[in-house]
Amino acid sequence: MNVDGKHYRTIWLKENEPNIVQIIDQRHLPHKFVIEDLTQVDEVARAIKDMHVRGAGLIGATAGYGMYLAALYAPRDSERAIMDQLMADEEKLKATRPTAVNLEWAVKRQLDAIGACDGGFDAKIRMARDTAQTIADEDSEYCRRIGEHGVGIIKEISRRKNGGVVNVLTHCNAGWLAFVDYGTATAPIYAAHDQGIKVHVWVDETRPRSQGASLTAWELGQHGVPHTVIVDNMGGHLMQHGMVDLVITGTDRTTYTGDVANKIGTYLKALAAKDNDIPFYVALPSSTFDWKIRDGLREIPIEERDASEVKYIKGLHNGELKRVLLTPEDSPAGNYAFDVTPARLVTGLITERGICQASAEGVLGLYPEKVSEISNT
Ligand code: MRU
Repeated sequence: MNVDGKHYRTIWLKENEPNIVQIIDQRHLPHKFVIEDLTQVDEVARAIKDMHVRGAGLIGATAGYGMYLAALYAPRDSERAIMDQLMADEEKLKATRPTAVNLEWAVKRQLDAIGACDGGFDAKIRMARDTAQTIADEDSEYCRRIGEHGVGIIKEISRRKNGGVVNVLTHCNAGWLAFVDYGTATAPIYAAHDQGIKVHVWVDETRPRSQGASLTAWELGQHGVPHTVIVDNMGGHLMQHGMVDLVITGTDRTTYTGDVANKIGTYLKALAAKDNDIPFYVALPSSTFDWKIRDGLREIPIEERDASEVKYIKGLHNGELKRVLLTPEDSPAGNYAFDVTPARLVTGLITERGICQASAEGVLGLYPEKVSEISNT
């Protein structure tokens, strides 16, 4: 997507220096646009854990590039030595954050591709680089297709409102900053806006790290999409007063039965939407499905992050990024980063292959090749 008119992805290989992976360090947004170089797998692991990059799709793409850097610096003594090092680096990357399934999906895809490549060391490095690029290109293309499929939902509401403004509520950041490009929840919104359909977005600030207030608002602003930042607890009131036509969120892991893990607070938005008969859609590429889990509430690992993220808040003060204490110094704070919305509260899933019901039947209808995989688990 464009930043001040120049096209950017969220991650790429440095021009003329393919041993360097570059990212937009999202910790400084929206106040500063910082590009960071990643040269070693340890730096990639830190960038994921400390959320220089975040969002399921981008975490996956970054882990893909991390495995490429791991291959670059793996010992060259023997096939065994290479693969042992890569498996150790895979564990290192997987240990950074547990909920977004794209991470384990990407590192496994890399390990399988590199392991199956028997053309010698340099061929393995080329395979690792090409696979990382393919993961990134696919992520971008699948998000673009999600926009193409999802825009129909917005168009239909616009038609029903005789071209009036369609008010969409979204939670956290499931925009291009959470992927390589386009985003998921935002892709139908960008597509509608670009087609001249009037849309307005209610942007949940999304405490404790404020991905909505700092990232979603920034990227919508860069694209000229009308939006309003709201506190996380305001959505229900807006729904009761007919000020929300549609909710679209992203997801970090969705079971093949339609249970959705996403940023903490998503479940409460789904409950309010159900209570007010407002459609609640979740947008995701197939890399975010977990084909092994049936019961999301019992089986999806939920990340718990440091209490300081709740006790402190970050912002710009006199041109400087500052962190200030909100709570009494010695008050404990809880910080589960995600929750699970059961399939029964989800109107539909918007994927790169189209829109389906949030159920095993709906999902496997779009991904029939997964039936055999599931029956073997
Ligand atoms: O903690 P984050 O910022 O990685 O959480 C991101 C979200 O919950 C997004 O909504 C989610 O990743 C969906 S978009 C990929």
